[in-house]
Amino acid sequence: METIQQDNISMPRIGELAPAFKAVTTQGEIHFPKQYAGSWVILFSHPADFTPVCTSEFMTFASMEQQFADANCKLVGLSVDGLYSHIAWLRTIKEKIEYKGMKNVEVKFPLIEDITMEVARKYGMIQPGESSTKAVRAVFFIDPKGVIRAIIYYPLSLGRNFDELYRVIVALQAADTFSVAMPADWRPGDDVIVPPAGSCGVAKDRMEGKEEMTCHDWFFCMKKIAKEAIMKAVLKQK
Ligand code: BEZ
Repeated sequence: METIQQDNISMPRIGELAPAFKAVTTQGEIHFPKQYAGSWVILFSHPADFTPVCTSEFMTFASMEQQFADANCKLVGLSVDGLYSHIAWLRTIKEKIEYKGMKNVEVKFPLIEDITMEVARKYGMIQPGESSTKAVRAVFFIDPKGVIRAIIYYPLSLGRNFDELYRVIVALQAADTFSVAMPADWRPGDDVIVPPAGSCGVAKDRMEGKEEMTCHDWFFCMKKIAKEAIMKAVLKQK
């Protein structure tokens, strides 16, 4: 593989405040992340309008918009195309494209025009080893206080897994609500991980089964939270 000269690319990190910007979108001007305070938001980029992988992704995002909204999560897209390209592409999707049972799909969430790449650069969406003229498929999960809580990057050639994006939003909110952590491949209804014991006494109690949890060892204890309780906690935050 060709070696790429690294320039000074800023990469926002988990736990940091989402970089602020003002932008023109298909839904008017937005002030990010200020106007999303109090709500979760997924800020995502795609490489280009009028391309097939991106079209399949946009139709899926738009079809799941209400599902994300029910989990108190808004969507904001971005590419380095201009506003009129965005408008024409979204109109084509609605009027002409039928894909996997989805048709007449209207994209109602804002799609940012970023022809100067100012926002894409701020968010580390331009990754020159992949492309210096198109954004990669970045996904930033931002909480109601404007803090970046998870980041996923995909290359140009791979469409995102939307079950995973929704799982991340549910898992982050559930982890916050119940002060627990989620194990590999966790899904609502699966056991969750309780914080490590703060003292030898608590660790001993856990190992002796005195608390309602299952311990694989003193540092690895799990408890049940019903799927209904998880979904109630996530969906009630609307
Ligand atoms: C696509 O969305 O199909 C695509 C976009 C840019 C490069 C490769 C594929």
